Amino acid sequence: MGQEQSRKVLFVDDERNILKSIQRELLTADFEVFTAQGAREGLEILERENIDIVISDYRMPEIDGFEFLKMVKEKYPGVYRIILSGFVEQSIVFRALSSGLAAVYIPKPWEPEVLLGRIEHIFHTRASLQRPEVLNVIRSIGRLPTLPDVYQKFTRAVEKERSNEELASIIEKDVAIATKVLQVANSAFYGSAKYLSVEWATIYLGVNALREIVLIASLENQIKLSEKQHEVLSDISTHSNLVNYGMHQIYRFLYKQPVPEQYASLGIIHDIGKVIQLCYFPERYYAISAYMEENQGSLFYDSEVALMYSEIGHTVMGAYFLDFWDLPESSVEIALYHHEPDKGNSHYRDILQACRMADRMVEFLFMHPESDLRNVLVGIDADPDNMDLIEVVFNVKAAFNESRRDHIGDES
Ligand SMILES: [Fe+2]
Ligand SMILES: [Fe+2]
Repeated sequence: MGQEQSRKVLFVDDERNILKSIQRELLTADFEVFTAQGAREGLEILERENIDIVISDYRMPEIDGFEFLKMVKEKYPGVYRIILSGFVEQSIVFRALSSGLAAVYIPKPWEPEVLLGRIEHIFHTRASLQRPEVLNVIRSIGRLPTLPDVYQKFTRAVEKERSNEELASIIEKDVAIATKVLQVANSAFYGSAKYLSVEWATIYLGVNALREIVLIASLENQIKLSEKQHEVLSDISTHSNLVNYGMHQIYRFLYKQPVPEQYASLGIIHDIGKVIQLCYFPERYYAISAYMEENQGSLFYDSEVALMYSEIGHTVMGAYFLDFWDLPESSVEIALYHHEPDKGNSHYRDILQACRMADRMVEFLFMHPESDLRNVLVGIDADPDNMDLIEVVFNVKAAFNESRRDHIGDES
């Protein structure tokens, strides 16, 4: 999607008034606006024009938004899909997000500036992921990693609204993946408790939270790694699970409410780019690790920047694949901006902040495992006298210690 080429957005809604007001609201926008009164007209426009983004209403006669986006995905997989809908249809909307039919959900009614801002941000992010430099690096991988089978079956079942029992049975068919799903779910949500079953996880964590766990578990199961890579991978997953656990604690501390369900597993995939890097560019990954060791205290991201890998570093790589695999915008945002939360869409600012703080806390603990609670807070530039925050570090540190014990247990 080149910046110079004209950028095109298609709105599909059965109500003519809504289409009219969209055209009015977006008159000054920096992209071309097309409107279609229904799915059929929408498909005709897609046939004719190189549309970049489709924004479809959910509730439409004949072909609803869900069905329409399904057709768009099949016929024009590169087109970015957004679903518009009222609050009452939330479960359908989440189904559209979880099954990869839409990357974003925008509630009705919307504020024109917000809508414009979100579209602009999507253009900006996608353009930055499609830069020639990025594509060159990605192409050098050769065959791109496809989505694991189990994950695809899982999302297809979600799309068809299968029961929790059926969803669990898809995962349980593969023992290695089921074990991994449980391990991730336990440590990423409960720190140390060990009592989940796959079906329990489907019910209590919810399909949205589980989807990312299934992605990571099946991806790690699918890629071929050397023994050395395997060891590093296990460190990356421990890190990611702890970050997810910490993200929940910190979110509650910062915003006095639990993490919204659809973001509950974002910490687990925030560093998915590291897994890609380790798998396809191991030399690069080892160079970063070596740099960290030589420069005691240098964090992963800072080392990547120092070695000038950060232009197409783990954040870009992770975001590229999540976008390519049709994960929601929230996942792409967390992968791309977890080290620079201010650059993310303001819509995700809270979760990005919580993830970043958890990330720093966990990385600090890895580097200074003996540090006391107050020093951890000093180390990440947080207030060491805040008792609530001390409690957060206490919990994360307990989970961290537990994960080290597990690790030692693995080796013996
Ligand atoms: Fe990171
Ligand atoms: Fe991280």
